[in-house]
Amino acid sequence: MKFFVDTAEIDAIAELNALGMVDGGTTNPSLIMKSGRDIREVTEEICARVDGPVSAETVATDADGMIAEGRELAKIADNIAIKVPLTWAGLQACKVLSGEGRMVNVTLCFSANQALLAAKAGASFISPFIGRLDDINIDGLELIADIRQIYDNYGYETEVLAASIRTVNHMSECAKLGADVATAPPAVIKKMAEHPLTDKGLDAFLADWAKTGQKIL
Ligand code: E4P
Repeated sequence: MKFFVDTAEIDAIAELNALGMVDGGTTNPSLIMKSGRDIREVTEEICARVDGPVSAETVATDADGMIAEGRELAKIADNIAIKVPLTWAGLQACKVLSGEGRMVNVTLCFSANQALLAAKAGASFISPFIGRLDDINIDGLELIADIRQIYDNYGYETEVLAASIRTVNHMSECAKLGADVATAPPAVIKKMAEHPLTDKGLDAFLADWAKTGQKIL
């Protein structure tokens, strides 16, 4: 499973990138707002650091507006994936932009039917939002499984990009379900390294080592 990093914070991206943990990036208007930076400037920096697709989101609500904004965002770098919302207008924009050979990430997907439409409109990525479904007591992971099955049934090449990831469990479950990509906040990716038995085991090893009085260096 590919890891995309869901942030516009450059330092956090750089830290994960140094370990080879970053296969791409995703941003959205809320993340740009949080960064406090200019969308072009910060997206260009992310694109330069990340070896893989970086999603930048349109904000128009009509298809023509999304297409124009998408073309503008695509000028930032060659690895831009244009993000459009899963509305009828977004699907129209996806069809046009993907027809121009551009990567399109269709976002705010909350149903298998929506994912099916995005694949038919030529999306490179579909972004089902797990956490926001969980928030309203609908199993977000079940949606990942449903989309995986539907895409596999018909050989759609659209990649399943699990989004709105809130927990480390979401990451391992998405990998088990066969999501192509998971985009997660840096803190979630770092938390995947943690286990209480690792901490406990390390404490015990260090205590015993101290008793030997030896040194390695
Ligand atoms: C990614 O592309 C999405 O914009 C992001 O994962 C949304 O996450 P949230 O529901 O935690 O805001």
